[in-house]
Amino acid sequence: MADLIARVHWQTSQEAYTDALPVSYIASFSEKDRKKLWSEFLGSHGPDKFLLVAETDVPPKIVGFLAAGPSRDVERNQDGEIYAMYVRAPYQRRRIGTMLFSEAMRIFQRGDIRTVGAWVLENNSGAIAFYKHHRGIVAGKKVDVVGSDLRLNQLPYSFLIALV
Ligand SMILES: CC(C)(COP(=O)(O)OP(=O)(O)OC[C@H]1O[C@@H](n2cnc3c(N)ncnc32)[C@H](O)[C@@H]1OP(=O)(O)O)[C@@H](O)C(=O)NCCC(=O)NCCS
Repeated sequence: MADLIARVHWQTSQEAYTDALPVSYIASFSEKDRKKLWSEFLGSHGPDKFLLVAETDVPPKIVGFLAAGPSRDVERNQDGEIYAMYVRAPYQRRRIGTMLFSEAMRIFQRGDIRTVGAWVLENNSGAIAFYKHHRGIVAGKKVDVVGSDLRLNQLPYSFLIALV
């Protein structure tokens, strides 16, 4: 499973971030690194972390996924967090992201989680439109510095389960 998720993650990153990130940075992403990341995530899978996948019927193929679990954000008062959500470009705007997101909210709700966060790049206009569509509100900002000079402005979106 880790290799299938890694493939969707890597391919969608290459498709999605051309306007949001420098080409050289996108080119540095590797499927191998993604596989390591998802092997670790699946290896540490517990009742509080989960991975949802969206699959086509014909041919059977994973075209999207959402990974979530407890909030890692110590600064904000949130219980849950969407760690990653990716839908392959040819399958976007068909409500696959909405299906993944809505199912994640149902899982959080069953676990008595009331607030959920998600970090998004400030210039990732598609994901921001998606989070706004799902009544996300943004409060604050952080800057991740990569290497010596790449600054990634990230926005913390927050969702109240009662409202989504
Ligand atoms: C963000 C993402 C998961 C959304 O998935 P999706 O399946 O395309 O989303 P949906 O079809 O469920 O969209 C629901 C609504 O959100 C809004 N929306 C989604 N993508 C949008 C876009 N690119 N531009 C404008 N609005 C958008 C629309 O209101 C849309 O409803 P509509 O199509 O009826 O107008 C997908 O675009 C993606 O994988 N992006 C690249 C990776 C990424 O940025 N992930 C998030 C950060 S980790």
